[in-house]
Amino acid sequence: MEVIEILREVSKRIYENVKDLGGTENAAGNFGRGAGGDISRNIDIIAEKTVLDYLKEINFECIVLGEECGRVELSKKPKGFIIMDAIDGSANAVRGVPFFCSSLAFATENRLSAITDGVITNLSNGEMYWATKDKGAFLNESRIQVHNKDPIYKIVGINTSGASTNLMKKLNPIFKQHNHTRHFGANALEMALFASGLLDIFIDLRNKIRVQDIAAGYLIVKEAGGLLVDSDLNPLDTNLSYETRISFIAAANKKILDEIILLMK
Ligand code: IPD
Ligand code: CA
Repeated sequence: MEVIEILREVSKRIYENVKDLGGTENAAGNFGRGAGGDISRNIDIIAEKTVLDYLKEINFECIVLGEECGRVELSKKPKGFIIMDAIDGSANAVRGVPFFCSSLAFATENRLSAITDGVITNLSNGEMYWATKDKGAFLNESRIQVHNKDPIYKIVGINTSGASTNLMKKLNPIFKQHNHTRHFGANALEMALFASGLLDIFIDLRNKIRVQDIAAGYLIVKEAGGLLVDSDLNPLDTNLSYETRISFIAAANKKILDEIILLMK
């Protein structure tokens, strides 16, 4: 079984197991802080267990880097890392806001740039975004691409959740200039929407996001033709450590990236 088939199958299983949980009391149960530092909710635990159970069932030799469960070695001879945010957008999931997803990626080495496969599943409707390195990005069975032309409405995604006063000042000219800024509350799914051409740029400069939140999105955006840069405008790359915090911009093309950077100067 190809790695991408494994990730797609287990994402489907997560969807089946959590699709009726959003907004229920059962979603919310508090299990203390997970490896990523946030409170683990029951819905997070159910989704992670789905993945771990399946990988064990098929004897997939890997190391899992889960947002809640931490590093789990499923083999002494691992083929690589499964980078798992089983529920991205946990606050939305617990409150019942229909915008949360699962994000699963596979990397052969300990770097974002070593990711070969990624799957993001919208857990409120089962839609699946996926990519394999050098083979393109897909939504269900259809090829997707970033929106690389002048849009009728330019839609600018900006994650401002918990942003500092300084960052908000820096971003202010973007809010002034662009009438259609958006923030939905699940970074991975926002990257997937961007990759499918629904946003023209997605900005997260808070230096808060973890590797688990963006690993699958990293590959899906690249395979859909998007640019991905860090806060110094270098190609985005980093190790897969739990301490790593990331800032990034995903842009449909150089023109919109330059326009946004100019506004922040
Ligand atoms: C969160 C989401 C959210 C972002 C937070 C993340 P989680 O992930 O991606 O959009 O603003 O920084 O923690 O905790 O729901 O997996
Ligand atoms: Ca999570």
